[in-house]
Amino acid sequence: MKAMTYRGPYKLRVEEKPDPVIEHPNDAIVRVELAAICGSDLHLYHGMMPDTRIGHTFGHEFIGTVEEIGPSVQNLAVGDRVLVPFNVYCGSCFFCARGLYSNCHNVNPNATAVGGIYGYSHTTGGYDGGQAELVRVPLADVGPSVIPDDIHPEDALLLTDAFSTGYFGAQLADIEEGDTAVVFGAGPVGLAAARSCWLMGAGRVIVVDHLDYRLRKAEEFAFAETINFGKVGDIVRELKYATGGLGADVAVEAVGAEADGHVLQHVTSAKLKLQGGSPVALNWAIDSVRKGGTVSVMGAFGPIFSAVKFGDAVNKGLTIRTNQAPVKRQWPRLFEHIRAGHISPRDMITHRFPLDDIAEAYHVFSSKLDDIIKPIVVPAP
Ligand SMILES: NC(=O)c1ccc[n+]([C@@H]2O[C@H](COP(=O)([O-])OP(=O)(O)OC[C@H]3O[C@@H](n4cnc5c(N)ncnc54)[C@H](O)[C@@H]3O)[C@@H](O)[C@H]2O)c1
Ligand SMILES: [Zn+2]
Ligand SMILES: [Zn+2]
Repeated sequence: MKAMTYRGPYKLRVEEKPDPVIEHPNDAIVRVELAAICGSDLHLYHGMMPDTRIGHTFGHEFIGTVEEIGPSVQNLAVGDRVLVPFNVYCGSCFFCARGLYSNCHNVNPNATAVGGIYGYSHTTGGYDGGQAELVRVPLADVGPSVIPDDIHPEDALLLTDAFSTGYFGAQLADIEEGDTAVVFGAGPVGLAAARSCWLMGAGRVIVVDHLDYRLRKAEEFAFAETINFGKVGDIVRELKYATGGLGADVAVEAVGAEADGHVLQHVTSAKLKLQGGSPVALNWAIDSVRKGGTVSVMGAFGPIFSAVKFGDAVNKGLTIRTNQAPVKRQWPRLFEHIRAGHISPRDMITHRFPLDDIAEAYHVFSSKLDDIIKPIVVPAP
């Protein structure tokens, strides 16, 4: 089969790899119909993620058709068209039993904090991902769901991570009726979070980024007010002005380890690797919510120390909530929102690349060229 393979930072190629095979009775093999590239994949592409091995195939957002099933699979049949959550999880351990699918204790021998994620290095289990023609789906009775007939395939694709993660980010913010929410980052996760804040009852939604084309999207797609942090002197002061001096009630951080806006943070994280990410947007979130507010963190950070303003968070009495999104938990509600016309996740898609052109797709997405927001990959256009 053809698959995207990692060759080192900023180097990818499409290669012929052996077709995946059933390795366990509860595996399925899925023929990929659509895959997406996530902002998280850029952390891998930039070489930020430890234990990203040569030859690894990325891709944790994909839908496809079941081509083969192991002898113990009961919930899927050959020919089913499925959406596959980005998390690999067992469904029955202590953590899965509590809905913490992204913290499954049985699927990742390489770490105890994070569970399994497709195509996200050996740090999250070493599972090859869906930017390929075929993918092995372990624990096939647990993760995948059949795509309902009335759900558009591109909407289903965006529920495997980006939209569901944004929605989860808004859920974790514990929004109360009329709250002011500020969302850092106008990538797909931030856009989905901003759109979802309204569904949770927010009275005001403000999105912060420094890319004007993405802020325009935040206005159209998420009906948000926007602030370009590159055009104001001090974004925290600006947000305080905008919220009567007290600060927003809640913030969603949807930027992660490679945040811009602070040279020293950038140098100590990306260049010197002294910290597990540059928490610029996280610190802005801590500074710009009101005392007693909530900060929901969706952005990805490495496991080691980061220079987060934790003392300020403590002294302000903030609640900080975070996780990798357990996306299947969000699906039933999101299917209803799509059917009711409240959301249209696929409106975030700006680019469609054939699998053969995936190196170009990563380059365009990483460099934020051509007003790109969400690229998807089509193995057989
Ligand atoms: N928790 C999860 O389950 C989960 C799932 C998916 C993605 N993620 C993470 O969420 C983050 C966002 O993902 P995405 O796909 O939207 O990525 P993306 O790279 O497309 O978007 C990030 C946006 O943040 C903006 N930005 C940079 N510095 C900023 C700052 N200081 N303040 C405000 N905005 C800033 C960038 O201009 C960009 O538009 C990534 O870190 C990704 O790894 C987490
Ligand atoms: Zn992702
Ligand atoms: Zn589990």
